[in-house]
Amino acid sequence: MAETTSPARASWSGKLAFVLAAAASAVGLGSMWRFPYLAAKYGGGTFLFVYLVFVFTIGIALLLLETALGRHTRQSAIGAFKAFGKKYAFIGIFTSAVPFIIVPYYCVIGGWVTKYLVGYVTDGPAALADGGAFFSNFIADGPQSIVFMLIFMALTYFTVAVGVNKGIEKANLVMMPLLIIMAAAVAIYALTMPGALDGLAFYLLPDLSAISPELIISALGQTFFTLSLAMGIMVTYGSYLDKSTKLTSSVVQIAGTTFGVSLLAGMMIIPATFAALGSGQAVAENSGPSLMFIILPQVFQNMGPAASVLGCVFFILVLFAALTSSISLVETCTSIIQDATGCFRRRALLYTVIFVTVMGIIVNLGYSSLSFIQPLGEGSSILDLLDFISNSVMMPIAALMTCIWVGWIIKPKVIIDEVKVSTKFGAEKAWTVFIKYIAPVVLVVILVAYVAQTMG
Ligand code: PHE
Repeated sequence: MAETTSPARASWSGKLAFVLAAAASAVGLGSMWRFPYLAAKYGGGTFLFVYLVFVFTIGIALLLLETALGRHTRQSAIGAFKAFGKKYAFIGIFTSAVPFIIVPYYCVIGGWVTKYLVGYVTDGPAALADGGAFFSNFIADGPQSIVFMLIFMALTYFTVAVGVNKGIEKANLVMMPLLIIMAAAVAIYALTMPGALDGLAFYLLPDLSAISPELIISALGQTFFTLSLAMGIMVTYGSYLDKSTKLTSSVVQIAGTTFGVSLLAGMMIIPATFAALGSGQAVAENSGPSLMFIILPQVFQNMGPAASVLGCVFFILVLFAALTSSISLVETCTSIIQDATGCFRRRALLYTVIFVTVMGIIVNLGYSSLSFIQPLGEGSSILDLLDFISNSVMMPIAALMTCIWVGWIIKPKVIIDEVKVSTKFGAEKAWTVFIKYIAPVVLVVILVAYVAQTMG
């Protein structure tokens, strides 16, 4: 978006452009890759239910807060907080650190997607559907996995550097609906596989007694991750908005689209996993970041001769969704560096590239030469650590600080007035109570319960 250091801010051409750009940032690996494995790990329907509740409460409330804050101040995260006093800059700085932790491992997963896409052409669908050996061999091959990550990064940097984002956004108008249609078709097919209907029940029916602090914090982190919240991005997006765009309906549309895509992704993956493994417990024990890469090729393989075309097309679409998100992440890192140091955009991008590449290589090696580093216990990886720090620790804390700051320091009126510039705000009271009382209390309870569970 932002061009060089010129003070004039770029702006969206209208509400639709804004909703689409925000949805493009939101829908990505978080929905396609991360959601299904977390849902599988935490009891299927139970996780889906808690995630649904979070998306349509704290998710929407914060989306509205962040975009309105951005539009009000016309600044990206650090500047937006600082606009109310220098002493508040730290909230913006803390929030802005999150994307720097996410991009490196996001690009690693992007590399996995790229590898699978290529794999459908070079190795054929049967090789990929071998129950996990293909995947393990690939990530254990340090140089190869680094090369694929670099390809994904190069695609991202290239787009950001030459400023063809507009073109990407246009292409996305076709790619996103295609991804949704294809995911729906594959999900329906997956449900016809023997045993999948029991898997569907596992995926859709919550067992409320299975809700644990760990599940709750994972669903919360997932809400922030998929909606691109609690990391300053939506503040920046809001800063490009004109005053006539209706914020309330926009945020509901963004949240609804993201939830819908996550729901579909789970539908493609979880019933089929359940059918293959036979019980919810087995599903939970076998699910981790590799889930999508192991199960989907098996589903495609089942579909017979069409497998290679399907697999190829599907991974192209996922690659696209991942790219539009990684672009938004790299853009954000670049503008944070630019705002913080006052350097030119090209130089800021260069710093971002160097940092992300070095970190990304370390994350990759976490599955090969550095695999002795298991920071979160037996079998965990450096990727798991970065994912945990950003989603389960930093984002909830960033969200908590933001709610307290708006609710008690700058006061909700600032945000409410901004929302009301373009639309009626029927939920004004409910939103205020939520941001002032409910969200801070619930966030503190979740964090404390989680720490207690981990310690005890
Ligand atoms: N929301 C994106 C996803 O789900 C990830 C992301 C986070 C992208 C933050 C941009 C900013 O894949």
